[in-house]
Amino acid sequence: MLLNRRSFLSSSVGATTALAIGSLKDDWVRHVHAAHQQAGGRSPEELSADESFWFQIQQAFDLDRSLINLNNGGVSPSPRIVLDAMIRQLSFTNHAPSRHLWQVQDPRVELVRERLARTFGCSSEELAITRNASESLQIAINGIDLKPGDEFLTTSHDYPRMVNTLKQRMAREGIVLKQLRMPVPVESHDQLVRLFEESVTPRTRVILVCHIVNITGEIFPVKRICEMARRRGILTIVDGAHAFAHFAYTYDDIGCDFYGTSLHKWLTAPIGTGFLFVRKERIADLWPLTAADDPKSDNIRKFEEIGTHPTAPRLAIAEALTFHHGIGPERKEARLRRLRNYWAERLRRHDRVRIHTNLSSNHSCAIATVQIKGVDSEDLAVHLWNRHKIIVAAIAHEDFEGIRVTPNVYTTKRELDLFCDAMEQVVSEGLPSPSP
Ligand SMILES: Cc1ncc(COP(=O)(O)O)c(C=O)c1O
Repeated sequence: MLLNRRSFLSSSVGATTALAIGSLKDDWVRHVHAAHQQAGGRSPEELSADESFWFQIQQAFDLDRSLINLNNGGVSPSPRIVLDAMIRQLSFTNHAPSRHLWQVQDPRVELVRERLARTFGCSSEELAITRNASESLQIAINGIDLKPGDEFLTTSHDYPRMVNTLKQRMAREGIVLKQLRMPVPVESHDQLVRLFEESVTPRTRVILVCHIVNITGEIFPVKRICEMARRRGILTIVDGAHAFAHFAYTYDDIGCDFYGTSLHKWLTAPIGTGFLFVRKERIADLWPLTAADDPKSDNIRKFEEIGTHPTAPRLAIAEALTFHHGIGPERKEARLRRLRNYWAERLRRHDRVRIHTNLSSNHSCAIATVQIKGVDSEDLAVHLWNRHKIIVAAIAHEDFEGIRVTPNVYTTKRELDLFCDAMEQVVSEGLPSPSP
C-alpha cells in the first residue's frame, strides 16, 4: 500500500512524527525565507559579508557547537531538513521493505537523477547515482578496455584510492602508470596545462585529473586539459570529489568523458551518496564494476546494479539540492571563499606560516592548507583537537605537509577567530610538551 499523507497522519506515531518534522521544517523554511528577504538584489560578493544573512543559513544545521569542525572537506554534516528527509524515508522503507523500497521508493530516484543532471548540466541519461566518488571513479578507471603498455597519466596529487585502483590495473594487466609531479603552490594554469601537454606520449590512452585537489585546494584548468586530450584522442576522467556544489560550474566548463563526485561533501547530502557522469557515446564501451544483464548496454543504469541498498539517502539528495539552490551556488562560492580568506589572510602575516594554496579566486575556494614551520603537522592537528576541540585534517605528502582547513556555510567567523587564536599561540609558543 502506498503510504499517503492522510494514512500516515491517522496513526498516532505518524501524527507525532509529522508534527515534529513539520515544526522543524517550518523552522528551516522560516530561516531560509528570512535570509532571502535580506538578500535583496545584492551581488554574491556583497552578500558574502552580510553576517545576518549567513546567521540564518547557519541555523539550518543541527550541530554541536562545543566543537569546531573545520574538516567539511572530508565529509560534511547535512542540514536538518536533509537529515529529516532521510530518516523519514528510512522509516517508510522499514514498514514493508520489499514493497516500499522496490515498488515505491526506487522509482522515485529517477526524479533525483533528473534534478542532479540539471544541476550538473548533463542529460539524466548520462548520470548514475553511486555511493561516493570512490565508487564512481573506480567504475571509470576499471571499466575502460586497455592493453599492456597503454599509459594512464595522472598526478602526484591525485587521491590515493584512485592511484591504488590504477596500481591494481598495473599489477594485473601491465598498463603503465605515469604520475606528474605537481608544483606547490601552483603558479598558473598555463603551467599545469603545459605539464600535462609535455607528458603525453603516443601510448597515453587516459588522463585522470582532479577538478580540485584535496590536499592543497587547487582548482585545475580541467576544460583546457580535457580539450588538449580530446584533440589527441585521449580519454579523460575528472575526479570531482570536492568540486560539486562547492563552487559554481556546469559540465560545459569541464568537457570530460567521465566525472565522479561525492555528494556528502559540499552538497551536504546524506553520507553514502555520489554520482558518475559518463558522456553518452562512452556508456556502451564502459564496463560496469558490478556485472549487469547487458554490460555493453548504453543505459546509464547498468552502473547502479549493486544489489539491495538503502534508497533513503538517495531520495534525500533532493532536499540537499533544494537547500543548495535555496542559498544559490554563486552566493555559496563567494561565502566559502570569504571564510577561507578570513583565516588565511590573518595567519599568513606570520613569518613561520606557509600557505600551500594559491589564494587567487580562480585557483581555490573553501579549501586551503597551512603549515607552521618547525611544527609537526600531525602533532598540530592532535593538539588542536585535544586542547581546543578543533577538527582539521593533517596532510603528510612527500613534497609538503600541513593541516587542511575546510569551513562550510554553517561555520561562523567567531569559530575561525578561535582557530586563528589557537594557531597564533603555537606560532609564538610552540606545541606544549607532552605530559610525562
Ligand atoms: C580528490 C578525492 N577523490 C576521491 C575521494 C573519495 O571520496 P569518497 O571517500 O567520498 O569516495 C576523495 C575523498 O576525500 C578525494 O579527496
